[in-house]
Amino acid sequence: MNPETEPVVEVADLSRKFGDRTVIDNLSFKIHRGETMVIMGGSGCGKSTLLRHIIGVMKPTAGSVKIFGDEITTMNDREIADVRRRFGMLFQSGALLASLTVGENVALPLLQHTDMSEDEVQETVTQKLQTVGLSGFENLKPAEISGGMRKRVGLARALALDPELLFSDEPTSGLDPIMTAVVDKLTLELTQGSGMTAVVVTHDMTSAFRIATRMIMLGRGTIIAQGTPDEIRTSPNPEVQQFINGEPDGPMPLNLSQDDHEHHPHVKARPLVSAQHRFRHKIP
Ligand SMILES: Nc1ncnc2c1ncn2[C@@H]1O[C@H](COP(=O)(O)OP(=O)(O)OP(=O)(O)O)[C@@H](O)[C@H]1O
Ligand SMILES: [Mg+2]
Repeated sequence: MNPETEPVVEVADLSRKFGDRTVIDNLSFKIHRGETMVIMGGSGCGKSTLLRHIIGVMKPTAGSVKIFGDEITTMNDREIADVRRRFGMLFQSGALLASLTVGENVALPLLQHTDMSEDEVQETVTQKLQTVGLSGFENLKPAEISGGMRKRVGLARALALDPELLFSDEPTSGLDPIMTAVVDKLTLELTQGSGMTAVVVTHDMTSAFRIATRMIMLGRGTIIAQGTPDEIRTSPNPEVQQFINGEPDGPMPLNLSQDDHEHHPHVKARPLVSAQHRFRHKIP
């Protein structure tokens, strides 16, 4: 296998159902080394679910995901842990451990996956926090910093092991335009300078067009459009144009239909009216 030409991520005929509802519908695409693949699409269309399948935390209903050439969908936890050493993941929620300090959160992958000395861990943590503009915040708890800062701590943690491959789910949501530019510049430096591959889910079109080498737009679990930023910008597809220009009216539905929710026959719907009565009672 030639590492220069083999895809770093290869998704083939991937499907995932929750109950009888299909969230990922027969997706296939490849991501090559050094690329920044931006994945976009309306809220609830399955972007985070797709990432969870690529990193092996969810198992598909059908299809295959190869990461660094190895099938991840059939790996056991130990095998997945080995692969996890080679990639970083920034979760949409940040997913920091509340009981640990900022510094301890960033140190976590270093302690889990390396035999670095305490001094080396400390040095790396300091350096990673510096790259995301958070020097001096090391000893605070996640609850003591802002949402945007938590996002950046999540990014510092995802970058702790200098990954070959970085997955970021909404890395710039909640960041101001300057900090967004800083995070985008960091992504560009790591991909163009160090040959890292990045897979970035984002709604931020400025950021998307700044960092992407390729883009995929998802809708209803399938690929609506894919191509270079220029191809997406000039796409004749009205759904793509509506999305990238943020227009309220167009072919993309505002509301997901009821079919877009998994049906739970055992959950009884509670009438809102009765809730209203109960609350009204309490209003003096
Ligand atoms: N564990 C689960 N069980 C049932 N349904 C799920 C589960 N995880 C995700 N879904 C459903 O899959 C759909 C896609 O969710 P997902 O979080 O992937 O959306 P998204 O594209 O990341 O949205 P957003 O842009 O708002 O983050 C949603 O309708 C959600 O209800
Ligand atoms: Mg999401």
